[in-house]
Amino acid sequence: MNLFDLIDVDHVNLKQMMAQLLATAAGDVDERAELRRIFGRDLTIHMEAEEETLYLDLIDVDEFNLAFEALEEHMAMRFMLERVEQTRPADTRWIATFRVFSDIMNRHLQSEEDVIFPLARSTFTDEKTQQQGQRYIEAKRIATAKLAGEGG
Ligand SMILES: [Fe+2]
Ligand SMILES: [Fe+2]
Repeated sequence: MNLFDLIDVDHVNLKQMMAQLLATAAGDVDERAELRRIFGRDLTIHMEAEEETLYLDLIDVDEFNLAFEALEEHMAMRFMLERVEQTRPADTRWIATFRVFSDIMNRHLQSEEDVIFPLARSTFTDEKTQQQGQRYIEAKRIATAKLAGEGG
């Protein structure tokens, strides 16, 4: 699969988990905690892999600084994800924190899908996006191993 097919699969999964989390109630403590753990892990891996492939390559050719904007959004998401992870799932405030997080994440996914990917598709050759797909898989493998090493 090329880079964009792989990222699409991740986005579908992440959006699905985000919707599930938004639908949890404060009483669903175990479900919320478990889903939050998997979501946080998968999102972290996804962002690292994008940074090592898509954004690394795009920075050289991106005259509008869109890549930097997207990377700033990754930083904002990491910050908010930390708050989501530090707030107790049973806390009534948790869903408020997660909603703000999801607003930032939705904005980011939309700008990737509507602006960044079309720009990248028009910039990179088919051969390049296939190679990037391989690098993306490898970057995910490394990020996964790193998280497992950290006990995440
Ligand atoms: Fe991203
Ligand atoms: Fe993404």
